[in-house]
Amino acid sequence: MKATLTVLGYVCCVVGIVLSTGSEHHASFEELNLKELEIEKDREGLLSLVENDAAVSPKPSLPKPLMVPLTLIQRAASQGAVCLDGTLPGYHLHSGYGSGANSWLIQLEGGGWCNTIRSCIYRKTTRRGSSNYMEKQIPFTGILSNKAEENPDFFNWNRVKLRYCDGASFSGDDENETAKLNFRGQRIWLAAMQELMSKGMQNANQALLSGCSAGGLASILHCDEFRDLFPKTTKVKCLSDAGLFLDAADVSGGRTLRNMFEGVVNLQEVKKNLPKTCVNYLDPTSCFFPQNLIANIKTPLFLLNAAYDAWQLQASLAPRSADPSGYWDDCKLNHARCNSSQIQFLQDFRNQMLHAIRDFSRSSQNGLFLNSCFAHCQSERQDTWFADDSPLIANKGIAESVGDWYFDRVDVKAIDCAYPCDSTCHNLVFK
Ligand SMILES: *[C@@H]1O[C@H](CO)[C@@H](O)[C@H](O)[C@H]1NC(C)=O
Ligand SMILES: *[C@@H]1O[C@H](CO)[C@@H](O)[C@H](O)[C@H]1NC(C)=O
Repeated sequence: MKATLTVLGYVCCVVGIVLSTGSEHHASFEELNLKELEIEKDREGLLSLVENDAAVSPKPSLPKPLMVPLTLIQRAASQGAVCLDGTLPGYHLHSGYGSGANSWLIQLEGGGWCNTIRSCIYRKTTRRGSSNYMEKQIPFTGILSNKAEENPDFFNWNRVKLRYCDGASFSGDDENETAKLNFRGQRIWLAAMQELMSKGMQNANQALLSGCSAGGLASILHCDEFRDLFPKTTKVKCLSDAGLFLDAADVSGGRTLRNMFEGVVNLQEVKKNLPKTCVNYLDPTSCFFPQNLIANIKTPLFLLNAAYDAWQLQASLAPRSADPSGYWDDCKLNHARCNSSQIQFLQDFRNQMLHAIRDFSRSSQNGLFLNSCFAHCQSERQDTWFADDSPLIANKGIAESVGDWYFDRVDVKAIDCAYPCDSTCHNLVFK
């Protein structure tokens, strides 16, 4: 049976975001005119819909998830480790117990990037650029759940969600005083790790760094740094969910995502924090793309990704700027409405993804789950992580695959057959 998630009222919600908050924060946007503001809000709306559980109609049958409060990192201020707007960064921690008392799971939050002064100024008025706007508590589901029946291998670990408020995958380090912008992702990462060490992570005997989307990219960028925080006797691995952003051509032959990443890397001084093994022979923007990093990461890494990643289809392959006539609109909203040439384009994208992971997958310590779905972020959502009808490859779901790899139970290198062979997908379909 094909499970389809319907995001209700897609068009109305994006418009709704623009209309309903149009005047609210306007006073603080001296540097933006209204039209520019609406472009940013549109972008934010799309991101939220693709990345946020809240945008998906909840299943009423599920039990109420654990809610975990936000803690601000007080020590961060003296280290200049602040969000875009200068507020303190924060995290949510739920303590482990029993056999998980000395095991730590760190989940880096995702949420796109800001690549221009304008988009970063806009971000300051959202939870992705300021802790003033962060939820005071958030649900812990999927890999963060505290219930064995929802999260069999990690439920009793110490589980942390580190909030994302820098706009450069926790890896920039600069500021712009004129625009009152702080680009301190790398410092936030370091301050957070110090804080968690002091809360008991220093005694960890097992640790897993994870993250989805921009956070999945961050978990790749910081994977070896994370490993180096611990003694050799600690088992340390990294999981990147929907972080395999490809340096791919868009539908008009342009390089939409590359141009955006170039903006992020230059604006936020990311270069100095990128792996030296890469920047010694490639330009910094290329070194922000996982395909140029993953083969050289020393720490065991698991890549979980949809081969037809819904975010990349929307924002990298067929954004409005690359498809001004909207030929891709139907296909972007619902994979069933792609015509055969569009499917061919998407198959080619999948082939690029398979090529990108070739060397990476030769290493026995690495893990892989590439399913042929139109999804984005499958470890944080309960329905995709571990439920009766969760996505499978060769009869094995995502939670079991990640657990098998982390605990060295069996090798996991799961690559799905090409679309439309997989009937277990939870495809994102927008109305
Ligand atoms: C800092 O921001 C201002 C806009 O407020 C911009 O004109 C300037 O170019 C920025 N500086 C750098 C180095 O990006
Ligand atoms: C698919 O749609 C695109 C855009 O509308 C069009 O250019 C192309 O010819 C179509 N392909 C087929 C096989 O119908």
